[in-house]
Amino acid sequence: MVFYICKTLILVAILHQAAAGRRKQEDFLEWRDYIDGKLPDTSIVVGRTSTFPGGIPIYVGLVHVEDGPNEGYLPTNIIGGVIPVNVSLDDETIISFDKNVKILCGKGHYTTRIFWVQTSQSTFPSVLESDQYRPVFAGWQFGEDNKVTFNSSIYVGKGTEGQFGANFVGKIYQNHPDPLKNNRLYSPGWYSTVTKFDTFDSLVWSLVI
Ligand SMILES: *[C@@H]1O[C@H](CO)[C@@H](O)[C@H](O)[C@H]1NC(C)=O
Ligand SMILES: *[C@@H]1O[C@H](CO)[C@@H](O)[C@H](O)[C@H]1NC(C)=O
Repeated sequence: MVFYICKTLILVAILHQAAAGRRKQEDFLEWRDYIDGKLPDTSIVVGRTSTFPGGIPIYVGLVHVEDGPNEGYLPTNIIGGVIPVNVSLDDETIISFDKNVKILCGKGHYTTRIFWVQTSQSTFPSVLESDQYRPVFAGWQFGEDNKVTFNSSIYVGKGTEGQFGANFVGKIYQNHPDPLKNNRLYSPGWYSTVTKFDTFDSLVWSLVI
C-alpha cells in the first residue's frame, strides 16, 4: 500500500515537473490594447512616478514601430492615463504614439509570478539561462547599425533611477552586433531624451511556483 502511495506521489511530482517545463510567458502575461489612455483592469503596475507629479502608476507599454527598413516591437513606460506613449528606435530620436499601443497585463495566477531581478550588462545573459525564471520577451528590433544589419531580441527592463523618477521602463537588446548596446537597457525619457543604463532590473516570470 505504502509502495503504491509512493509511486503515485512520484508520478505526481514528475507530471508537475513536466508541466513546469511546458510553462510559457503567454500563460501569465498578455499584451492588451491601450486605447485613449484607458487601463485594462489586469494592467500590471511596475512603479510610481516620484515627482512631476508624484504617485502616478507606471505600466509597461509596447509599440510596433515601422520606419523605412527599420522595424521593432519596443517596450516603454505608460504613465497612468497619459498619451502619447514614447519610444526610441535608434536610441536618440524619440517617437510619440497615440494609437496602436499595447499594455502588459496579467493572466491567470500571475501576481506572485512576475517580478524584477537586478541585472547589469554583464549579468543579463545569465537571466536567459536561469532555471528559476525567464525574462519577459517583448519582441524584436530589425535595423542597421554602423552598416551592420541586425535583428535583436528585445526584453523588458527598468532603470533603477529614472528621469524624474518616472521614465524607467525600456528595452534590453539581446543579440545586438554592437557590444556597447548588447544586453543594455535603453529607456525613453518623459520629455525627449533617451537614458542608457548599464545596471537595471529585468522583468521576469517564474518557471517555478
Ligand atoms: C526578426 O526575427 C524574428 C524572429 O526572431 C522574426 O520573426 C522577424 O520576422 C524578423 N524581422 C525581420 C524584419 O526580418
Ligand atoms: C511623450 O512625449 C510627449 C511629447 O514630448 C509628452 O507630452 C508625453 O507626456 C510623453 N509621454 C510619456 C508617457 O512620457
